[in-house]
Amino acid sequence: MEIVSADVAIVGAGGAGLRAAIAIAQSDPSLKVALISKVYPMRSHTVAAEGGAAGVIRAEDSLEHHFNDTVSGGDWLTDQDAVELFIEDAPRQLTQLEHWGCPWSRTPEGRVNTRPFGGMKIERTWFAADKSGFHILHTLFQTSIQFESIERYDEFYATDLIVEDGHCRGVVAIEMRSGRVFLFHAKSVIVASGGAGRIFPFTTNGAIKTGDGMAMAYRIGVPLKDMEFVQYHPTGLPGTGILLTEGCRGEGGIMVNKDGYRYLQDYGLGPPDPWPRKKAMELGPRDRLSQAFWHEQQKGNCVSTTYGDAVLLDMRHLGEKKINERLPFVRDLASSYMGKDPVHEPVPVRPVVHYMMGGIHTNIDAATPIPGLFAAGECACVSINGANRLGSNSLTELLVFGQRAGLGAAEVARQVADGTPAGVETQGREAEARILGLFDREDVGESVAGVRNAMTASMEEGAGIYRTEEAMQATCDLIGQLRERVAKVPVKDKSKVFNTDLMGVLELEAMLDISQTVVHSAIVRKESRGSHQRLDFEKRDDEAFLKHSLATYRGADVPEISYCDVVITKSQPAERLYGGAAEAAAKEAKEGGSGEGKAA
Ligand code: FUM
Repeated sequence: MEIVSADVAIVGAGGAGLRAAIAIAQSDPSLKVALISKVYPMRSHTVAAEGGAAGVIRAEDSLEHHFNDTVSGGDWLTDQDAVELFIEDAPRQLTQLEHWGCPWSRTPEGRVNTRPFGGMKIERTWFAADKSGFHILHTLFQTSIQFESIERYDEFYATDLIVEDGHCRGVVAIEMRSGRVFLFHAKSVIVASGGAGRIFPFTTNGAIKTGDGMAMAYRIGVPLKDMEFVQYHPTGLPGTGILLTEGCRGEGGIMVNKDGYRYLQDYGLGPPDPWPRKKAMELGPRDRLSQAFWHEQQKGNCVSTTYGDAVLLDMRHLGEKKINERLPFVRDLASSYMGKDPVHEPVPVRPVVHYMMGGIHTNIDAATPIPGLFAAGECACVSINGANRLGSNSLTELLVFGQRAGLGAAEVARQVADGTPAGVETQGREAEARILGLFDREDVGESVAGVRNAMTASMEEGAGIYRTEEAMQATCDLIGQLRERVAKVPVKDKSKVFNTDLMGVLELEAMLDISQTVVHSAIVRKESRGSHQRLDFEKRDDEAFLKHSLATYRGADVPEISYCDVVITKSQPAERLYGGAAEAAAKEAKEGGSGEGKAA
């Protein structure tokens, strides 16, 4: 085993990990940062984000509007102290990116441009055409390489977190090009390893998003919070799951069913706005749009594609010039992967798993309950997203909380004495022995593909857009069995160099742990809220369930589910209203003098 000493070890070099590393390097250049990543930083999933990042910038907008949109969008399961902090810091973070070189798209007058996004009353999404994630990641990456104190360990797969005397003191990772196991001994650790969309069969998420970091934290006793809330993005490409950004609708694209009818008006999101549209309908929140698809499918109103049912995203009226300027990547993706050029044809789309609102339980400083361990980005749940995230809040979230994680981890590192406690190395060697032991498994007929396919199909069946007790119970039972089966999956490839067979087993173990937290948290939440919709409990139940779930690891057993309070500072739970219903409620409130703040 190789041993590397650092002050702070960061797992993940996407947006949150890079932002954390920069914060540490800027605040204290004497701290050595080990930045450990499964892929080269520019291949992290942040690169795939398209539409943009939210932050108040327009004169007609306000922090209060951003707060209200975020809290109501999350169906009041957001922690409002975290949201307040987030919306205030958001414009600063986005401006900082501008100063580091991020090429935000501009208005004709040269100001930063914004586009409307789902669930927002006023447009506040900063964008760089439809490659916002690429440009943000590139900006962070090129900024990070200015700092000598940041040492990168690219293509290292992290497997374990080390806790000694109750304090997180390191990370074990496999160097993929050599197969060597490394112990990164550190004074504090940040997990910024992204989400786990790959536990589902249809997802916008890249192949790397297998929940490894969430699983590492979970296994050392950090609860995973609000795991039942899984976001479907309404416009993924059938078959591949590739994202067509909400920016398509922000720029004016409409959604129609097989009869050319704008069906969203039938689901509390209408009526259709006159051009140029600014609110609701296609710009309703993601949970509602995905649920509307499900109903259209039940009614037989979808178009059939080679890859199953779909509805149509029509952008033809935007014209070639606008599509080329604002949505060039979308044009490329739709043409290449569906054979549909949006300039000339509507594009078939369907909801696909996009984002996990839940994740590693942290406080507003990105600290987990284990001293020395921080988490930020999609793998964390702070929580600003509640039961349904607003589109374009997540890129900003990884900046705000990535920086906080970096500053917190730096502070802890300054307080911890130099030297490696003996127990750290012992634990590292135990982790190495477990990894090497995987090569000794007998082949009893189990395979990564067999177990993984059963897992993803069952997750879609039991924990999809609409859920029932019966289907969730079947998924709970199956995931339990699959966890037993994965322990028998052999590593057939005995080589050391880029052993994807080994990685496949380790990723699958992580995905099964995460799947289990999702479905076990879901089955005990007997209400419908945001992205968690139950056909057997159709109403939101604030009395019983206005609280965060916490899934705690219990080894071979099922996770233990407990709850903690939601922080409410100024917005009391109310009905979520969009479109015409929101306007009517606002009018009534104005005339009657109350009710402000509930509609988006
Ligand atoms: O549609 C999109 O561009 C996705 C953005 C997001 O998830 O925030």
